[in-house]
Amino acid sequence: MLFDKYIYKLSPEEFYDFLTSYGKGVEVLSEGESFVEFALYEPVKGLKPVKVIKVEIIKPENVYRPIRVKNLMVLPSWIKPVVIRQGGAFGTGLHESTRLCLGLLQEELKPGWSVLDVGTGTGILAIASKRLGADRVLAIDIDPVAVEECRHNAEENCVEIECLLGEPKDVRESFDLLVANLELDIFRHLWSKMERLFKHTAIVSGLYGKESVREFLSLCGLKPAKIRSLKNWYGLVLRI
Ligand SMILES: C[S@@+](CC[C@H](N)C(=O)[O-])C[C@H]1O[C@@H](n2cnc3c(N)ncnc32)[C@H](O)[C@@H]1O
Repeated sequence: MLFDKYIYKLSPEEFYDFLTSYGKGVEVLSEGESFVEFALYEPVKGLKPVKVIKVEIIKPENVYRPIRVKNLMVLPSWIKPVVIRQGGAFGTGLHESTRLCLGLLQEELKPGWSVLDVGTGTGILAIASKRLGADRVLAIDIDPVAVEECRHNAEENCVEIECLLGEPKDVRESFDLLVANLELDIFRHLWSKMERLFKHTAIVSGLYGKESVREFLSLCGLKPAKIRSLKNWYGLVLRI
C-alpha cells in the first residue's frame, strides 16, 4: 500500500516547539546546527513540507521471521506454534500430505468449529486445529503409539484434545470438519464409515497421483471444492 510521506525542515528551536505541541512521534531524517529534517505520515496545518514522497508501507509479516538461536526459537506473535516430539508416530510436518492438510486447515477452519482428525499420528493436525481456534477436537488412531504421542504432544502444546484409540466406526457424533490424512487403500475400506462424520467440510489427503484422486472422487461421489498438490501428493476439500 502506498502512503504520502511529508518531509519538513525546521530550525532546532522551531522543531522542539513543534514536537511539544504535536505530541506524537516523528521520524528524524537528519540534523545540522541550523536545521532538523523530519518526516510525518500526515500533513500538518500551518507547516509547508519541503517535499512529499510516496512510500510503501511493508507489513510486519513480510519482514519478521522466526529467529533460532541454538535451541531457542523466537517467534513473531502471529506465528502459531505446533510443537511435535520426534517419536514413533507419523506426522512431523515434513511429509507433503501433512503439509497439504496444514495449509487447507488454515483456509477452511473457522474458530469455534468442532473437528475430527482420523489417523492423527502425532496429533499434528489436531493440535493445529486447536491453534486455529477449533472448539472441540477429537483425534483417533488405531495405533496405540500414535494415541500416546498425540496425548503427549497435546499436553506439550497446552491444548485440550480428546485422543482415542479407535477408528471411524467407533465415532458416534458428527463434526463440523473432518480431516483425514490416510491412504487410498484405507479410504476404500473406511470412506463409507467416514462420510457421516462431518456436517459440511472435509479435508482429505494422502492421495498420491491423479489416478488416486480420480478413484477417491468416484468412491465418495462428491465434487471437490479445492484440490491442492505438492510433489504429486494431493489434498482435497469436500463440502456437503
Ligand atoms: C499418514 S499418517 C497421518 C498422521 C498425521 N495425521 C499427519 O497428517 O501427519 C496415517 C495415520 O492413520 C492411522 N490409521 C491407519 N488406519 C486407520 C484407521 N482405520 N483408523 C484410524 N486411524 C488409522 C495410522 O496409524 C497413522 O497414524
